[in-house]
Amino acid sequence: EKGTYPHYMLKEIDEQPAVIRKIIQTYRNEQGELTIDREIIDAVNEADRIYIIAAGTSYHAGLVGKQFMEKMAKIPVEVHISSEFGYNLPLLSKKPLFIFISQSGETADSRSVLVKVKELGYPALTITNVPGSTLSREADFTLLLHAGPEIAVASTKAYTAQIAVLAVLAEVTAKSNGIDIGFDLSHELGLVANAMDVLCDSKELIEIISREFLSTTRNCFFIGRGLDYYVCLEGALKLKEISYIQAEGFAGGELKHGTIALIEDGTPVVALATQEKVNLSIRGNVKEVVARGANPCIISMQGLNMDEDSFVLPEVHELLTPLISVVPLQLLAYYASLHRGCDVDKPRNLAKSVTVE
Ligand code: M6R
Repeated sequence: EKGTYPHYMLKEIDEQPAVIRKIIQTYRNEQGELTIDREIIDAVNEADRIYIIAAGTSYHAGLVGKQFMEKMAKIPVEVHISSEFGYNLPLLSKKPLFIFISQSGETADSRSVLVKVKELGYPALTITNVPGSTLSREADFTLLLHAGPEIAVASTKAYTAQIAVLAVLAEVTAKSNGIDIGFDLSHELGLVANAMDVLCDSKELIEIISREFLSTTRNCFFIGRGLDYYVCLEGALKLKEISYIQAEGFAGGELKHGTIALIEDGTPVVALATQEKVNLSIRGNVKEVVARGANPCIISMQGLNMDEDSFVLPEVHELLTPLISVVPLQLLAYYASLHRGCDVDKPRNLAKSVTVE
């Protein structure tokens, strides 16, 4: 039940710190180490390549998960949109492992890939919020998100839970191979949960920014580089599905290859700047759009922030920034939907789980 909350979406955004803590607690053993069933880690280690299959927000979480698996566990990963995979089958490696990411575990596009994968005899792991769901039952292995029921059509806490569980999977795999990832993941996830608490208490500022940038605009762009780019894709999806504003996420460096033609006087451009190695280049991109009249909203992180920024996130480990940078984007979308009089929890034309192909 949504209790005192006006909408499920807001409640689910606020539940994110508790969900991260629950994931740490559930995946930690008595010695305080993160752990995952041995048979799952063996399946990951037997694979020469991982194929992540997902749709929508879960696909966006998969893009972040690829970075974790490659950077921490040193296993190559491809991420595919379920509905494209079936007829665009890539040349598969000799020993693939398929990971299906699905909040509901019922997405038909993903299920049809799973059926094909099983026909071909390949192993499959489902990461889902719903025990006993179709994708969970039909895969060889399941990892649960422990996010609690997600009711709002716009996915929020499932996205951050998916990213956290993918981080745990990458860390445990790395450890099983004697790889030192260089930081204590459960400690850093604890800091992420604390940072999320701070963000959930900063709603007023985000509401003001949302009102200023999004209450009347027809479109909005999100730009970022590296991990920030993937979060921009998610921020844009959130905004379009619940506020009906045409929104797109772009890689900062791609702007000059076409998209910058769309910038007009007053076009809102949200820029994420949480990655030290691309901080100056994304700020260069902001200057390019401002020179064409854009109205910029820079969301940066402590330590990388500058005077021009609209919102500064608490500092977390650089690989884990998607878990917190997405929160203001979820809130921007929430308030845009609210201010524009849209149906926040049940946007037009959309269903919570898409059970047709
Ligand atoms: O249940 P799933 O994670 O498989 O759902 C996939 C997408 O349909 C879902 O993420 C959708 O994009 C959300 N409405 C996004 O907020």
